[in-house]
Amino acid sequence: MSKTAILEIDGKKYEFPIFKGSENEEAIDIKKLRDLTGLVTLDPGYKNSGSCTSEITFLDGELGILRYRGYAIEDLAENANFLEVSYLLIFGKKPTAAELEKFENDIRKYTLVNEEMKSILDGFPKSAHPMGILAALTSALTSFNPKSVDVENEKDLYCAVCKTMGKFLVIATWTFRKNMGYPMNYYDNTKGYVENFMRLMFEIPTEPYKVSQTVIDALDKLFILHADHEQNCSTSTVRMVGSSHAGLFASISAGVSALWGPLHGGANQAVLEMLEEIHNNGGDTEKYLAKAKDKADPFRLMGFGHRVYKNFDPRAKIIKKAANEVLATLGVEDPILDIARKLEAAALEDEYFKARNLYPNVDFYSGIIYRALGIPTDMFTVMFAIGRLPGWIAQWKEMRENKEPIGRPRQIYTGSPLREFK
Ligand code: CMC
Repeated sequence: MSKTAILEIDGKKYEFPIFKGSENEEAIDIKKLRDLTGLVTLDPGYKNSGSCTSEITFLDGELGILRYRGYAIEDLAENANFLEVSYLLIFGKKPTAAELEKFENDIRKYTLVNEEMKSILDGFPKSAHPMGILAALTSALTSFNPKSVDVENEKDLYCAVCKTMGKFLVIATWTFRKNMGYPMNYYDNTKGYVENFMRLMFEIPTEPYKVSQTVIDALDKLFILHADHEQNCSTSTVRMVGSSHAGLFASISAGVSALWGPLHGGANQAVLEMLEEIHNNGGDTEKYLAKAKDKADPFRLMGFGHRVYKNFDPRAKIIKKAANEVLATLGVEDPILDIARKLEAAALEDEYFKARNLYPNVDFYSGIIYRALGIPTDMFTVMFAIGRLPGWIAQWKEMRENKEPIGRPRQIYTGSPLREFK
């Protein structure tokens, strides 16, 4: 007999089924709760609420497990490339060599961004944060590609996926070039996706530009590690916006805005800002470690701890190795990176951090790699967005294909009772 949960209210008992996932996670299915009892649940931040079922990503924060479509993140980071992982996430299967080649070629067909988009870019002040520009340009893509995406029509859907993958990368790098005063670059269809990212960012018309394989490999890994993380704030936003049947670009644009916040994608920027602050104040890491432990001080060690990974962040292990390789290959010497190393070593030996299982998370090391590559701090969250793009697309597609209802949480009103307005 399948397991159920009994809820007793005012002496009356109600029975609810217990839903079991493929990794034996269990949830009380309360779909009928309001109909049966007249009550709703109250769960701000949704920490106890499953908003959907999903076949995309499995995460176990206690055991430090992260898998996409059943494949371990360690396996994918070692043996797959970013577009292969994107295909896997979006279409649910590992692509054959022919499918992968077709996917890459189809993305290339859409790497040209309408020139009129540049006039929108021109309207932004130079000081604008790149995430604000990225959200606006992504949303503007809807106007240049007005055909709404019909999820029943596989061909249109596939085309929208390729367009999003191609154009988002280009406009993401334009946000940086605008700030630098560089001319906008075009995707080079003879080169790979990750190599193109570096070119789009840094190649200028007056100089030859070559990207080292170590850099391509490290970025490829970083994008893979960020590609999906189940129902986090930005992904839930993409699903929520898409649940009203808003198009893919509009939903992704909302995801970019959600990711921008310092409690989500903005954390990698916060890591570097913290390291710069420590450096500018004399480089005393012990002092900052003490501040982080002082409960009277709001300072926290950025890049340490994680909301769901309570023992270790599996992504951090992989990226620590890649960070060391990139730094060694590029021969980077940077006092900020020395501070990062000192802080990491001290925290890993410190009783406070050990007792609370506070380890460096993926943002600690990703910031270090980005800095070594010359990517400015305010572009870090854009890097996260490029990596997260296939996850957002996959989750949007799954939500529409599962015919999920429009998202509409309830609330408990705590405001004034009826009063007269005279
Ligand atoms: N520095 C100092 N103390 C910390 C830190 C930290 N970074 N993180 C947690 N603690 C302490 C916290 O004060 C608490 O101590 P006590 O038990 O004595 O009260 C204990 O560790 C448990 O922490 P918590 O607040 O219950 O942990 P949480 O799950 O609420 O918060 C977190 C997780 C990520 C918000 C937090 O660790 C933090 O603020 N870290 C720094 C910011 C950061 O790096 N965020 C990026 C997360 S990864 C991005 C993503 O995947 O989107």
